[in-house]
Amino acid sequence: MRPQEIDWGRISAIIEKHRGEKWGLIPLLQEIQDAVGYIPPQSLESISEAMHLFPAQVQGVATFYAGFSLTPKGKYVVRVCRGTACHVKGGKSILRVLKKELGLEEGETSPDYRFTLETVACLGACFLAPTMMVNRTYYGRLSPPKVNSILAQYRKEEG
Ligand code: FES
Repeated sequence: MRPQEIDWGRISAIIEKHRGEKWGLIPLLQEIQDAVGYIPPQSLESISEAMHLFPAQVQGVATFYAGFSLTPKGKYVVRVCRGTACHVKGGKSILRVLKKELGLEEGETSPDYRFTLETVACLGACFLAPTMMVNRTYYGRLSPPKVNSILAQYRKEEG
């Protein structure tokens, strides 16, 4: 999601919903992450005030968990496995195709905020190697042509 498209009203509502909750920080961060695709750093101060924490504590939690991000990501986050099982089954060529097709290096987001490319140590689906995920959907037993058709599907969704 483009940073300028952030719905600050929605973020405020989420913060208010969890205000003062004893164990509310993680669910609060999760809801903001789901709502706008990342935790805007500008929201850290309001979150910390609502949760009676220091901004550094909130930032610490937001940076500790891999599921949270303080930088905007694409609408489609593509995570490629670089674990051993996937590597043995050709994971390298999957990453190569994705880099070429998306024009992105690991950790980069396209300028139009459609795609982010990431690698992870293991997606926990080694029996399907080589694997990748797009947002929360798993894709396994990949080959370069299969990757191309998956990407085409997401590009089509965008119109
Ligand atoms: S090594 Fe790729 S899913 Fe586990």
